[in-house]
Amino acid sequence: MGIEPAVALNSKDLVGIAGLEAGEIQLLLDTAEQLLEVARRPIKKVPTLRGMTVVNLFMEPSTRTRFSFEVAEKRLSADTLNFSSSTSSVTKGETLFDTARNLMAMAPDFIVIRHPNTGAPHRLSGVVSASVINAGDGSNEHPTQALLDAFTIRRHFGSLTGLTVVVAGDIRHSRVARSNAFLLSKMGAKVRFAAPASLLPVEVEELQAESYLRLEPALEGADAVMMLRIQMERQKKLNFPSMREYYDFFALTPERLRLAKEGALVMHPGPMNRGVEIDSEVADGDQSVILEQVTNGVAIRMAILYLLAGGRSESAAGS
Ligand code: CP
Repeated sequence: MGIEPAVALNSKDLVGIAGLEAGEIQLLLDTAEQLLEVARRPIKKVPTLRGMTVVNLFMEPSTRTRFSFEVAEKRLSADTLNFSSSTSSVTKGETLFDTARNLMAMAPDFIVIRHPNTGAPHRLSGVVSASVINAGDGSNEHPTQALLDAFTIRRHFGSLTGLTVVVAGDIRHSRVARSNAFLLSKMGAKVRFAAPASLLPVEVEELQAESYLRLEPALEGADAVMMLRIQMERQKKLNFPSMREYYDFFALTPERLRLAKEGALVMHPGPMNRGVEIDSEVADGDQSVILEQVTNGVAIRMAILYLLAGGRSESAAGS
């Protein structure tokens, strides 16, 4: 039996996949499916969020997430304010909560936040009336990335139920791995983590994933393979002997990819480190859906904004 989509999201915020029900995930994916069509129109805009204001509060670097949110907001006709910590009064010692209180005094409807500390979006959601959307918090969660990943997989296979998805690389420091493990297991897919022991998380059982210390056995029978970069910004030293050795044992090469199912999807949330976790021939090959993930990210972020604003999926792409 399939998962019934919810009729609406249960919360004013989207701070993590852990707090979402399967029906809410289904609703988000179904709504994104309708909104994908807006990008194919000559005028890529619907009036859904006209008169609403979104603050994009990015306190860590970002290319895909930040621009994709901004495109999604503009396609929904919202007014957008872009906050970058390096050019703000955070450099003079202002805290996140004082920053948020001051921004709230300008009456935004949404705050999209990326922050280096685990739980920052959750804490913010408790003190502001705006809808808070987590664009990545420390090593904790990156819910919008997991949703766009699931959306991309579902568009190729029709459903997530029964699929086997390998997530390989620096799992320990990856919010993408955690959010994907929560989401894929809720939707009936099997998750395999593959990493050197030093890069596996301690709470692997809580994440309902099987763990593998070598990539080859994890790849056998896989429907999709998601490669992750090594997050040097979250560890003081290399957790393995050398980059060369990492490539030899854990990089997705054309030979290793042949161990997965024929036509298995090759995925990466970006930014990629070619020649470290992924070979260029694979990253740019026929099975790669890496740029599709980026395109789908806009539709997913439009769906999140639309549903948090109180929308219903029947009319999502209405003009
Ligand atoms: N996938 C992702 O979060 O990429 P950015 O860091 O460029 O936003």
